[in-house]
Amino acid sequence: MSDTALEPVRLVDYRVPAFLIDTVHLDIGLDRTQTRIVATLAIRRNPASGERGPLKLDGDSLLFVEAWLDGVPLQTRDYVALPQAFTLHHTPEGSFTLTIETRLDPSANTQLMGLYRSNSAYCTQCEAEGFRRITYFLDRPDVLSVYTTRIEASFQEAPALLANGNKIEEGVLNHGRHFAVWHDPFPKPSYLFAMVAGDLAVVRDSFVTASGRHVRLEIYVEHGKESRCTYAMDALKRSMSWDEQVFGREYDLDIFMIVAVSDFNMGAMENKGLNVFNDKYVLALPETATDQDYANIEAIIAHEYFHNWTGNRITCRDWFQLCLKEGLTVFRDQEFSADQRSRPVKRISDVKTLRSQQFSEDGGPLAHPVRPEIYNEINNFYTATVYEKGAEVVRMLKALIGDEAFGRGMDLYFERHDGEAVTIEDFIACFADVSGRDLSQFMLWYRQSGTPEIRAEGVWDESGRTYALTLSQILPPTPGQPHKQPMLFPIRLGLVGTKGDLRVRLDGEPFEGLVALTEPTQSFLFSEVGEKPVPSLLRSFSAPVKLAVDLDEEALLTLLRADSDPFNRWQAAQSYALKLLLRLVKDPTTPIDPRFVEAISGILERGGDDPAFAALSLALPSEADIAREIGSDVDPQAILGARAKLRHTLGSYLGSELLRTIETMSVDGPYSPQARDAGRRSLRNVALELACANGSKAALAVAQAQFENANNMTDEMAALNTLALSGTDAGEQALLGFRERYGSDPLVIDKWMSVQAMLPHETTLARVKELMRDSAFSLHNPNRVRALIGAFSANNQTQFNRPDGEGYSFIADIILSIDPKNPQLAARLLVAFKTWRSLEAGRRALAAAALRDIAARPGLSRDVADIVQRSLA
Ligand code: BES
Ligand code: ZN
Repeated sequence: MSDTALEPVRLVDYRVPAFLIDTVHLDIGLDRTQTRIVATLAIRRNPASGERGPLKLDGDSLLFVEAWLDGVPLQTRDYVALPQAFTLHHTPEGSFTLTIETRLDPSANTQLMGLYRSNSAYCTQCEAEGFRRITYFLDRPDVLSVYTTRIEASFQEAPALLANGNKIEEGVLNHGRHFAVWHDPFPKPSYLFAMVAGDLAVVRDSFVTASGRHVRLEIYVEHGKESRCTYAMDALKRSMSWDEQVFGREYDLDIFMIVAVSDFNMGAMENKGLNVFNDKYVLALPETATDQDYANIEAIIAHEYFHNWTGNRITCRDWFQLCLKEGLTVFRDQEFSADQRSRPVKRISDVKTLRSQQFSEDGGPLAHPVRPEIYNEINNFYTATVYEKGAEVVRMLKALIGDEAFGRGMDLYFERHDGEAVTIEDFIACFADVSGRDLSQFMLWYRQSGTPEIRAEGVWDESGRTYALTLSQILPPTPGQPHKQPMLFPIRLGLVGTKGDLRVRLDGEPFEGLVALTEPTQSFLFSEVGEKPVPSLLRSFSAPVKLAVDLDEEALLTLLRADSDPFNRWQAAQSYALKLLLRLVKDPTTPIDPRFVEAISGILERGGDDPAFAALSLALPSEADIAREIGSDVDPQAILGARAKLRHTLGSYLGSELLRTIETMSVDGPYSPQARDAGRRSLRNVALELACANGSKAALAVAQAQFENANNMTDEMAALNTLALSGTDAGEQALLGFRERYGSDPLVIDKWMSVQAMLPHETTLARVKELMRDSAFSLHNPNRVRALIGAFSANNQTQFNRPDGEGYSFIADIILSIDPKNPQLAARLLVAFKTWRSLEAGRRALAAAALRDIAARPGLSRDVADIVQRSLA
């Protein structure tokens, strides 16, 4: 076992802070290796706390210099200053100021937490516990302070000096230095502090809020990248007006800034008035970014902007409440994207993400509730469960109480808790109050982990024209939760006949399409059911559950054709394909059902009506989807084989139809990232991939031509991927050509790395090792690591899970070599092992051995030790 002693933090141990910090004056003297921080804190005892002990501030790897109490230097006997804490033995009654000077080395900060350097600029990342790497503080989200930040730096090195709030002063100093002072009038927790300084280009725009406030908008990027910010700026303005229209929320400062940096552990960060972004989620040109990149930029710009109200104005009392801001803000950004694009298409892609990321987490050793009750390392709880399932819980709440009550509940939440640090209970109470509903059973969604299973059975009584639907819930045990209480589910449903939805009654009333399941088993008796219906259950995926309903092929075809709910039409195609694939995994000689091929042909034929939707319906369940369905003793190679066989068959039978779709879905004119064109491209490219699946020369020639002539990165990448998958010489040539064409563009080279890392070929591991020696690769940059190593471990089922275990030991070695430099990045790579227990025995043993090797390494970070220990438990 590792020697990293983990001291868990528990929700039940929460205590209000013993002290409050009303104001913070930070004086930052920037230097590449010797940055000087002087923090002056106005502190007083918290009247709500009974604690009388000394003042203990958090620190992390800090170098103490000196301290003053009310301006008078402290004597060494008055305090203890350690790298991880500062303790002041006796504090004055009433309020006092404590000034502490520390030094830090931004250039040596490879963790990318606290103050560090990226592309020769200085920047900060404080969430969750990074502020304590800058200065001693009560580094917890329920201590809200008003910040004033003075930054001083060499003018030449850092002409731009940025921090939260509004700039209130600036000036020139001796020795080529200058300074700026920023003041943020909104009290905030330390995790929302930010400072950036460097030689950056700026793109400016403006926005006038509904009430007439003029807001300056600024995006800071590397010089030369200005033209790549257009879409991000546009997305920002659309986000600002959407939040006014849909949630009645206006922006509250005179300036909103975004800075793009190249070295960033996460996607982006919502610091008050000064969002810091991974440049991958800001920069885009048609020639460098795919439709998916554009969609991600739009969603992440919106997400961080929306945090201004859900996260910043109202923040979390403690880190257990993380879903209070993250789940809710993901819900908001999903709604925004749905409104900007196609709602059903957005819903389908969100559910795909939920199932692949969250269901797999919930079914494995890392399962935890949406609101965890214990953690060893909070960084490891920025998970699909907190984010994606957290968003689903908000969506269910809206479904249960209705749109109108949900809107009033949100209004009440903003009104009641503005300026506070609150809990999930506070949030839910707003909706209980406006709706008059008892939401105590609903709270179980925050406490119980695991994916519930809903079983459904229906009986049609022809003579009585009734349909009896019985729904039951099964709550599988998860780590630490062997027994569970029945939960509350909103189930949207309809009864579908040959010509579409049947108009039926429930309890004598016209049925509106929603029932609430509260008991372990419940029956619903529908009347006026004149024909044998197919139940269309869980429409628009109204709850994050696994649905077990035994629909045969005929029933699935009925839904595929006649269901009014687009999500369930898509689901019907997926369920059909999945049935087929599961049979093929068991027996590769299973003949392929011609009705399925016909159905796919039908989707192609009607593709023009809604190309993005058709593209999603044509895409077969992924290897991971199939593995999850199988559940145990998974053989990834057999899954790949089944999928290849089905694709091959479809390619062969539908060759000419696919080529016709490719033709008709071509997009003329200049590139636009709008949903309409993006949908056409996605259908075209799904068709291209299928058409090439049987090695068709004609189709491969189309791919080759598309690779050479594409006027945008979406089509170029799709062609490159298809050519590379073909395993032909043309594929290798295309890869070489691409590398030459884009050698100087890291974000594009990342895509090139990912494509190769995901090839399901035996040679891929060797190729990945080779690519690590490419001059474009670096183990220090999170984007590079995720593009190559992360793509291999998380998205290459057969090669990560090689039967000889080489994939596991390779990833284990990399994790161990990254861990001392960047524990967060190392811990995130380790999550690739989250489904190891469901593998067949041989691979399972090899994966376990790799995990044990990691666990045995002395000096592991808390981040990695936590994940590896829970994975093995
Ligand atoms: N607050 C987070 C960023 C963050 C995460 C900081 C973990 C520190 C630790 C931010 O709002 C966020 O959620 N970003 C997401 C993208 C978002 C669209 C879901 C991210 O970075 O992945
Ligand atoms: Zn967030």
